[in-house]
Amino acid sequence: MKKILALTLWFATLTATADEVDKRQILPLTEHQRNHVLTEMRDLLSGTQNILGAISREDMIAVAGEARSLGMGMVHKGEDHLQAVLPREFTQLGMSVHKSFDKIALDAESLKDLKHTLRQLTELMQKCNACHSSYQIRVKDEPADSGMRHSHHQH
Ligand code: HEC
Repeated sequence: MKKILALTLWFATLTATADEVDKRQILPLTEHQRNHVLTEMRDLLSGTQNILGAISREDMIAVAGEARSLGMGMVHKGEDHLQAVLPREFTQLGMSVHKSFDKIALDAESLKDLKHTLRQLTELMQKCNACHSSYQIRVKDEPADSGMRHSHHQH
């Protein structure tokens, strides 16, 4: 009886641990890089909200404008330091999201088909989910004196 109880407890602990551990691939970033990525993420979320708002008003010009602001034009110079530290699959997935927003903008202007736009947005958001279920950001330990600077970290 004792043995069974112990075994049950052991299993329970094991399961609990498995659930609590974040197994997504870790992206070790500096505080500065993390802030850069997360700021872009919040822009993607609010931009997507704006697109949905424009769709609900059946305003295809606004759909195109909002979508284009999340397109390849959103990728700024000065992101080179980030490209260098992020895995290739990660940046490729990111680029494909920006390209999809550009495509949504083009189609909104030429086809003016709300259902088509909604389908495209649904497919695009699958990429948001795919990336989020694969990666997590952790701030890597930095020497105490390099607080605000990221230039020390170009390997
Ligand atoms: C190429 C990878 C990738 C893609 C594509 C991606 N994200 Fe993210 N996103 C991340 C990572 C990594 C995080 C941080 C997750 C963590 O550390 O738990 C994140 C975090 C976020 C956050 C939280 C921001 C914060 O301030 O904490 C939001 C909101 C978000 N993403 C929205 C989106 C939306 C909307 C899309 C699609 C339009 C999207 N993301 C596509 C990688 C991606």
